[in-house]
This record gives sequence, C-alpha cells and structure tokens, in this order.
Amino acid sequence: MNTPAGRVRTAVLISGRGSNMAALIEAARAPGYPAEIALVLSNRADAAGLARAAEAGIPTATVESRSFKGDREGFERAMQAEIIRHDIALVALAGFLRVLTPWFVRQWEGRMLNIHPALLPAFPGLDTHARALAAGVRLHGCTVHLVSAGVDEGPILAQAAVPVLAGDTEAALAARVLEQEHRLFPAALAWLAAGRVRLEGDVARIAVPDASGALANPLPG
Ligand code: GRF
Repeated sequence: MNTPAGRVRTAVLISGRGSNMAALIEAARAPGYPAEIALVLSNRADAAGLARAAEAGIPTATVESRSFKGDREGFERAMQAEIIRHDIALVALAGFLRVLTPWFVRQWEGRMLNIHPALLPAFPGLDTHARALAAGVRLHGCTVHLVSAGVDEGPILAQAAVPVLAGDTEAALAARVLEQEHRLFPAALAWLAAGRVRLEGDVARIAVPDASGALANPLPG
C-alpha cells in the first residue's frame, strides 16, 4: 500500500480482538493523519485482530509469548527485533495483555501509548468495569497515556468519561466505554505523531484546545 511520505510509522501491539487496532487503522486512512499503521504485532497467533489487520492490508507479525516461558526480556527482545525490522517510530498498545519490563519501556520512552478502560489513576489493572460498578462511581471511562514502568501508569494524554447508568451491567458499561476508546485513541496517537505532546515532569501538555465546562452525573435538578 502507498502511504504519503512523512507519516510516523507506528506499530500496534495486540493480544485479542483488536477493535482499538481497527479504529487506529481506520483513522490512519484519513488524508492528513500524521501516523501510518505500519505493523500489527501480536503475542498470540490466535488473536482475532491479526486477521482483521491482514484484511486491511497491514503487515502483521506474531511473537508468541508462550514460547518464552519465564524469559520476559527474551520475549521482548524478539518483539523489539520485529519492530525495528519494520522501521517503527511509535508503539500503540491496544489490548496488549503482557506486563512490560523496564527494559522494553525504556526503549520506547515517550514513544509508546496505552489505552486503558478506566479513568486512571482509578482502577488500574483488570476487570475495570466490574470494579467501577462495585465502587458505585457515577462517571467511568477510558484513558490514553504514555507508558512508564508501572502498570497502567505514565503521563495522561486524554480521557473520555461516560455516565454509569441505573441498572448498568458490566457488558453495557464496557460497550459504552469502548465506543469512546475508539474515538480517543486515534486522536491521542495523532497528537503524539504530530509532535503536539510535551512533557513537564510526569505531566503531559498537549497543544490542542482544552474542553471547557463540566460533566455532572446524575444531573443536579
Ligand atoms: C480495551 O478495552 C482496551 O482498553 C484494553 O483492552 C481492551 C482491548 O479491546 N486495554 P480491543 O482488543 O481493542 O477490542
């Protein structure tokens, strides 16, 4: 596939269905989008997202984490070799279910994004929607952040909030959050690729206008 010169070559790392990956691929098709999805890399050969990426004409690769039992860095060095072979400048973690070592994180410092299905720093880790329901929060959502060594930690680029509705189930809430993930991740990747993200210590500043106003849920009568 022909891609315009100057777009930032980006690898998307997945472990499963790849709906965020698909949203990134779709967004990157738009004229003027500053990143190109140049590789989809999975740690599982059976990840459904791999077939989706191949259908979209994106180069794919698999580095089976299972074959590196107990040798996390060996697994990551194999991934890194694959990523470098594809001349990648940015990495987007899109449902990549492996905790990364400080070594790998260092290789991609300031150049690796993750999407997390909660409003960090609330609910890092797994089962975020069930935990949000159990905690009774009124707003839940998703976060795109730069990856640092801690799990689901690192400078936050963008967040989207959704209301938790009366009678919500985990699946209903997850679906509402996922819809926002698919909007937020392509936007954040574009900012990073276009050089609009600047770090001040642990805080990311983004050269785009802030939203103003406030959200409240339930609505005060
Ligand atoms: C998403 O909810 C993402 O936030 C989380 O894992 C899920 C992956 O879904 N990190 P998909 O593979 O992108 O559909």
